[in-house]
Amino acid sequence: MIALALLMAQAAADPAAISKGEKIFAQSCSVGYCHGVGGAAGRGPRLRGRSFDRAYLISVTRDGVPKSAMPGWKERLSNAEIEYVASYVMSLASATDAAPANPMPPGVGPAAVSAFKGPAQAGRGHAAFFDAQREARCATCHALGGRGIAAGPDLSKAASMTPKQLGAAISASSSSHTSMVRLKNGESFPALQTGAVGPIVKLYDLTSPPPVLRSVLREEIESITKETGWSHAAVSKQYPAEQLADIVSYIYYAGAGKSRPVKAGDLK
Ligand code: HEC
Repeated sequence: MIALALLMAQAAADPAAISKGEKIFAQSCSVGYCHGVGGAAGRGPRLRGRSFDRAYLISVTRDGVPKSAMPGWKERLSNAEIEYVASYVMSLASATDAAPANPMPPGVGPAAVSAFKGPAQAGRGHAAFFDAQREARCATCHALGGRGIAAGPDLSKAASMTPKQLGAAISASSSSHTSMVRLKNGESFPALQTGAVGPIVKLYDLTSPPPVLRSVLREEIESITKETGWSHAAVSKQYPAEQLADIVSYIYYAGAGKSRPVKAGDLK
């Protein structure tokens, strides 16, 4: 019994198993921002610096968590691969250091926000657009001035809209580009489709900010329908009216190079 426990402990700490598990984790578990690079948490729970029971880890990895975004991997990974992943995740228990940096494309992420040279109001709008303190900042869904993540429409063209049109789009309570995705496992979420590669459909999950790019197997999808429950108003009501006016001024500046003062009333 003791010998067996020892043997299992050794298997769990075997560097070769951990390294194999790390590769599988990078390919399957940290993608789509699910468990993050090095298990540092993405949309799914953080796995780094936590202790797990090995049998629990293996069963969750094999069978998934019902009614959640965590799929079962038994059809996609072999038993041996699931064992390797468990070894790797267990090896993260003592990892308290900062996780390796996310390999984001250049120009994306907090470091990309640089000093702004331009009109003062557009500068305030720029700061609000990229405000890293806000979970639902515009830049989590829109690219502008060559930065941000273009999950939603590219806003450089929005500079051709009037302030009233922009105000209406920003506080819209319905949405035409998003859809409701229902999976066969019972999960459903509002999403923006970005494309499909073979059997995989790529979409941004808008359940909570920031949107998460997910790759879903076509055969896992029950339905994709138009009515979503997602609305832009949920985002914009987190910004005071004056700040939205600043942001619109920034949209004009970034999209058309125009200095254009905008008042909160112009958006109505
Ligand atoms: C959670 C993601 C998300 C966030 C955050 C977000 N948007 Fe959007 N935005 C969208 C989506 C999705 C659409 C498309 C709406 C539709 O389906 O009609 C959109 C549309 C727009 C449009 C209309 C563009 C067009 O070409 O018609 C504007 C303007 C806009 N957003 C501005 C903003 C501003 C300004 C902010 C920050 C205050 C912001 N958005 C934050 C997702 C987001």
